[in-house]
Amino acid sequence: MTDLRITPLTGVIGAEIEGVEIARPLSSGQALELRAALNEYQVLVFRDQQITPHEQHAFASSFGEVDTPLVDPGGAPAPGITIIQSSLAKSLTDVWHTDQPFVKEPPMAAMLHAVTLPSRGGDTCWTNMCAAYDALSAPMQAMLDGLTAVSNTVWMKRRTAEAGKSFGYLMADEDVIHPVVRVHPDTGRKALYVCSLYTARIVELKEAESRTLLDFLFEHSQSVDFMLRLTWKPHTTVIWDERTTIHYAVGDYDEPRLMHRLILKGTAPVGVNGHAKAA
Ligand code: OGA
Ligand code: MN
Repeated sequence: MTDLRITPLTGVIGAEIEGVEIARPLSSGQALELRAALNEYQVLVFRDQQITPHEQHAFASSFGEVDTPLVDPGGAPAPGITIIQSSLAKSLTDVWHTDQPFVKEPPMAAMLHAVTLPSRGGDTCWTNMCAAYDALSAPMQAMLDGLTAVSNTVWMKRRTAEAGKSFGYLMADEDVIHPVVRVHPDTGRKALYVCSLYTARIVELKEAESRTLLDFLFEHSQSVDFMLRLTWKPHTTVIWDERTTIHYAVGDYDEPRLMHRLILKGTAPVGVNGHAKAA
């Protein structure tokens, strides 16, 4: 047993973790409990954690392998850590998304540590895509279980270009196909794996069917019924499961907001039929 205290933040997603100093090496018991908590709650919030970028990297390594970031504005304070600045990230992160579904092996998790925050605003929201799937009717679930979708960066690049920004320099232009419903490798739970920023169309449907179904799935999965809205404080650290959640950074502020970010390596999404569909 460890001294971890796990307090759920809503009825469907998110938990605050107390009783651990994440700047120090975790015991194997703590690491096990935290990985289990991430599987259960999908978003873990640690308050009042004074950590350096190197300590953040070490803590994240208890959950998986820290990956090389695709969008790197430079000035990495430690290997794998990027500095996310509000001025740069707005128009990329204030849309519902999971990170990098446009690659064959999208990240399994991501972590942010709050360094500088606006005096008000700048919350982040997540929804539980397992709960969103579970809330659908059985016939709808059965149809979605057999579908795959194209992810790409076309709309993201257009949207950020309109805002006078470019994030495309390191991102692939190809379409990647993933299952619409992915099975979590540890829990076996099914999660919707579509998001409005990157999912372009459903492969097996006609164009009009695809558009209407995706619009429905986006609206459904963005419901406050499945949501955690987190107000950051200085030294708050959050890790979330990228396979079973989508997130949205609320852009309701103008003051500086700076986070230290990293992602953890993932594997190709596996659909209900048990096969990875990435193509
Ligand atoms: C991200 C992201 C949200 C935020 O880092 O992938 O979407 O609140 N950030 O900064
Ligand atoms: Mn993101």
